[in-house]
Amino acid sequence: MAVREILKMGHPLLLQVAQPVASFDSTELINLVEDLWETMAAAKGAGLAAPQIGVLQRVVVFGGERNPRYPEMPPIPRTVLVNPEIIPIDQSVSEDWEGCLSVPGMRGWVPRYNKIFYRGWDEHGNAFEREVEGFHARVVQHECDHLDGVLYPRRVRDLTRFGFIQDLFPEGVRPAENFEA
Ligand code: NI
Repeated sequence: MAVREILKMGHPLLLQVAQPVASFDSTELINLVEDLWETMAAAKGAGLAAPQIGVLQRVVVFGGERNPRYPEMPPIPRTVLVNPEIIPIDQSVSEDWEGCLSVPGMRGWVPRYNKIFYRGWDEHGNAFEREVEGFHARVVQHECDHLDGVLYPRRVRDLTRFGFIQDLFPEGVRPAENFEA
């Protein structure tokens, strides 16, 4: 298994719609998931989607305990999510700072649904579903956008709130502004 290169905004694969995974528990899928975890850890991300390493499959990983980069964030269970479906529980939306490992050094002010229901499968084919809110809901929406070829800058409504970290936060970035996935 390996730490893979993370594609950057402008790479055409990041704009593609990823394909559903057809067979679970395969060596190919298990190796992909291991590469996603290793690459996410090396980049200190909160999550990573398969298209970010150039694999157009509907697979994301996120969460895990004790990420030192996000000490103020509520913990999100370490999750492999394949072929996800997201349904907003209501229409309420919050805006918050968001970053992306494919858009390094930048942050944007991104609207996301506060509360979502999501379901999918793990890499072995076990189905699961959750109702979540807040940061957990934001991470899932960010990751699943990658599966549809959407990077967060396309969701920023006020482009005066999209820029480089040092310029947006000259006094230093707080953990709450330090989410990248
Ligand atoms: Ni991202």
